[in-house]
Amino acid sequence: MRKPIIAGNWKMNKTRDEALQFIYAVNQAVPSIEEVDTVICGQSVLLRCLVKRQGDNLRIGAQNMHYEEKGAFTGEVSPLILNDTGVNYVIIGHSERREYFNETDEMVNKKVHSAFKYDLTPIVCVGEKLEQRENNTTNQVVEAQISKALAGLTEAQAKEVVIAYEPIWAIGTGKTATSEMANETCGYIRSVVSKIFGKNVGEAVRIQYGGSVKPSNIKELMAQEHIDGALIGGASLEIEAFIEMTNFNK
Ligand code: 13P
Repeated sequence: MRKPIIAGNWKMNKTRDEALQFIYAVNQAVPSIEEVDTVICGQSVLLRCLVKRQGDNLRIGAQNMHYEEKGAFTGEVSPLILNDTGVNYVIIGHSERREYFNETDEMVNKKVHSAFKYDLTPIVCVGEKLEQRENNTTNQVVEAQISKALAGLTEAQAKEVVIAYEPIWAIGTGKTATSEMANETCGYIRSVVSKIFGKNVGEAVRIQYGGSVKPSNIKELMAQEHIDGALIGGASLEIEAFIEMTNFNK
């Protein structure tokens, strides 16, 4: 059985006051960590403030990091500092990072290795553009992204990775992939992981869907065989919506 993982990606949103208000309202209302992993990924300057108030059942993640521990990389965030701050997760290779900040599969792979070195669980994002979906190349696109992102991991590490399948055309657009479509691609991703690391790893790895997830569609998405969680942007900013989505199985 794979434990569900519901993560909010706040992106570049929320002031410190808004983050405080959110975390106090939410940290007692999310499900037990025994049942569901619940994660909030905030801007890096907010992470300490969030970790201090995460409570027993919520965990905090970063939205990006550099792969080096330290050095002359002005403006970057070190994995060592994330670990020191008490962060447990880090999103790697989000499509917005790939598109606006030129992140390559090679950088994604370095960051994934670095995350393990500093005890951070990587949430690795993959997903196709609209024209790739229309050209029927979705499977090739996600297969290439997955095999490059996870290259060189041990089986034990590959089992721990969280993969987020986020079709780019569904992000922030209100267009959700149908649950069948999302399940089909998540199932394909699982088969790719099985092919590389063996069936045990493929069966164990957790795969999230992301792209316009909201309270009205999360139950149906989570009911799909290969969808083990959600990576939620816009709807994760609202207290009530977030609480409702983390309690999708109640
Ligand atoms: P939305 O939920 O706003 O579509 O964003 C999805 C996303 O990019 C999460 O990482």
